[in-house]
Amino acid sequence: MSTATSLLKQHLQQRQMLGKTHVSLRPGTMEKLSGLGRPPAARAVPEPEPLRPVVGAPARILRDAPQPETKKAELLEVAGETLEEKLAALRVMAETWEPALSMGSLRKTMVFAVGSPLASLMFVGEAPGAEEEKLGEPFVGPAGQKLTAIIKAMGLDRRKVYISNICKFRPAMDNQGSGNRKPDAAEMKACLPFVLTEIDLVKPLVIVALGATAAEGLGIPGTVGGLRGRFHATSGIPTMVTYHPSYLLREEQTGDGIRAKRAVWEDMLMVMEKLGLPISEKQRGYFQAK
Ligand code: URA
Repeated sequence: MSTATSLLKQHLQQRQMLGKTHVSLRPGTMEKLSGLGRPPAARAVPEPEPLRPVVGAPARILRDAPQPETKKAELLEVAGETLEEKLAALRVMAETWEPALSMGSLRKTMVFAVGSPLASLMFVGEAPGAEEEKLGEPFVGPAGQKLTAIIKAMGLDRRKVYISNICKFRPAMDNQGSGNRKPDAAEMKACLPFVLTEIDLVKPLVIVALGATAAEGLGIPGTVGGLRGRFHATSGIPTMVTYHPSYLLREEQTGDGIRAKRAVWEDMLMVMEKLGLPISEKQRGYFQAK
């Protein structure tokens, strides 16, 4: 992909995330454009403004960096012409995914993902909980509200990012009630092809793994304390590991809520810088202990 094409795509993705344009690129367009020199579609949209100056923003466009491909064997083949059709086909495939359902340790309701297929930013959590299972959407319970607040603090809109889980089914427990548990390694492995295929289709510029379980599922083992604050890689895509929003909720109740929020926020500032998003002085100062 040429630098100009790459810049145009990043520009459109940034504006879309900020809710400032309805122009979106059809799946496959970038691939077509990259072989054509000056993209014809550029006539239909304004010339890209220079990227906003952001302290610490990458000098080069991320997509220009060589990125190891996810092994084809780890990806699922999906029918469909457009990105939306392919994601819809993947969702249907997940509903009856035998490797996960035959384990007997996961509940039967599949909860897929939410957000924009054109998102530059993708969040990956653990597994749906009671609320998510009821509403069929990831991160809609208390932890979800916390995540939505983080996204808003970044100047973004929940509908313009892509939110998914490593495990697509709520892990079952004895006397479940409203109780939730983390998915284990085997449960995550059974669902992993879905999240890897979602990453391959959406092609986010940055991934955020929420919590050590999600990070482990993506192949980044360790504690959040040891992993956060720098970028790792998933299928070659820069991946930030940060605390799960439930940890923030727990720390607000029983620990040092401000310290935990600041840690997550510093990780999100790094993500914003990586994406070349604007960051105000006010945003830089959020959650600093008085
Ligand atoms: N926690 C997660 O990790 N994912 C959800 O969808 C909800 C809570």
